[in-house]
Amino acid sequence: MGKRFFWSIGLILVILVVVKFSYIYHTNLTINSFMTMVGEKALHNTTVKNVILSTVKSKPKPLTGMWTVNAIGRLGNLMGEYATLYALAKMNGHQAYILPQMHSQLSKIFKIRLPVLHQEVIGRIKWRHYGLHDWMSEEYRHIDGEYVSLGGYPCSFTFYDHIKEEILREFTFHDFIKQESNAYLEKARGDRKNVTFVGIHVRRGDYVHVMPNTWKGVIADIGYLQKAMDYFRQKYENPLFVVTSNGMEWCKENMNNSLNDIHFAGDGQEGSPGRDFALLSHCNHTIMTIGTFGIWVGYLVGGETIYLSNYTLPDSPFLKLFKYEAAFPPEWIGIPADLSPLLKKNE
Ligand SMILES: *[C@@H]1O[C@H](CO)[C@@H](O)[C@H](O)[C@H]1NC(C)=O
Ligand SMILES: *[C@@H]1O[C@H](CO)[C@@H](O)[C@H](O)[C@H]1NC(C)=O
Ligand SMILES: *[C@@H]1O[C@H](CO)[C@@H](O)[C@H](O)[C@H]1NC(C)=O
Ligand SMILES: *[C@@H]1O[C@H](CO)[C@@H](O)[C@H](O)[C@H]1NC(C)=O
Ligand SMILES: *[C@@H]1O[C@H](CO)[C@@H](O)[C@H](O)[C@H]1NC(C)=O
Repeated sequence: MGKRFFWSIGLILVILVVVKFSYIYHTNLTINSFMTMVGEKALHNTTVKNVILSTVKSKPKPLTGMWTVNAIGRLGNLMGEYATLYALAKMNGHQAYILPQMHSQLSKIFKIRLPVLHQEVIGRIKWRHYGLHDWMSEEYRHIDGEYVSLGGYPCSFTFYDHIKEEILREFTFHDFIKQESNAYLEKARGDRKNVTFVGIHVRRGDYVHVMPNTWKGVIADIGYLQKAMDYFRQKYENPLFVVTSNGMEWCKENMNNSLNDIHFAGDGQEGSPGRDFALLSHCNHTIMTIGTFGIWVGYLVGGETIYLSNYTLPDSPFLKLFKYEAAFPPEWIGIPADLSPLLKKNE
């Protein structure tokens, strides 16, 4: 019985070894035949071979810990915070989680996927608080800590433009919102043929006072809007401008609609920020004024975006927190602001 037993064990071992080797041989064989397809030269190219081998064999390192971000400000700010957390957590090899108040705002509109922290869990973790400024820095690639809570109002493409596809996937609208927005635009179009939709966001409200008084800056005036609209009027056959604003009365009084190519969305009533945001995001191009709301519309639409540039005096405290080149992607079109009202005031 002893002899037979040892033979059986031996046979099993031999089979295991053969199976293992043929697996490795097969993997290499597949790669080699792929290399042959790629070409003789590449067959001996160890760089290519090693890259392919390592992608076949190595698994990505699992994300560890819990990273989160504050949920402050309104829609545009929340989107900036979400996207920055997503990008920095990934860059540092940690799992991102959002706060319930961020989830309740963003998930109403988008099919976001980051997991949500429970309120009790938030209170019991010893977080490392880490403040961010509003542009990407080298040190943000190496932030220590398994439990990090990012802080600030980050909203700069410099944090997340390298994973733009993933960020846009997070900010995918719910299907019913897509349908509502497209139906609205279709109705606004009326009998016009071959329309190019240009969304315009005119940020007013508190900024009318905050910009000159706190930040030594201006908001968009009618001259800016006129120049921006004329750009699209010259470029497209039938542009239709879809305007949303938190100062719709000002828009209706000041925007010259003698060409009948401006549609004021909301018909006098203030729309919800979510609805306005979705509407502008379904247009083909964007005219923004100032603020993160307009920046996100331009980023999601992906067409041409015109923005107001250089809208603060050189000694503005705003410039300590904000960099034009980090806020607006280089392919966007800047129109410099008319600062003369500020200069008059200072005289
Ligand atoms: C090997 O592949 C690398 C990466 O594709 C390439 O840069 C290099 O020029 C190749 N070398 C040869 C000798 O083909
Ligand atoms: C539709 O408009 C675009 C942009 O203005 C123009 O290039 C195109 O020729 C137009 N198409 C038709 C069928 O009129
Ligand atoms: C409005 O625009 C039309 C057409 O471009 C122009 O003829 C008219 O002078 C403008 N009105 C004002 C008040 O600027
Ligand atoms: C412009 O936007 C409308 C509404 O979202 C869309 O149906 C159309 O396909 C877009 N046109 C182009 C050229 O992208
Ligand atoms: C804003 O000002 C800077 C510095 O004066 C200048 O280099 C830049 O071209 C200006 N931007 C625009 C869009 O005019």
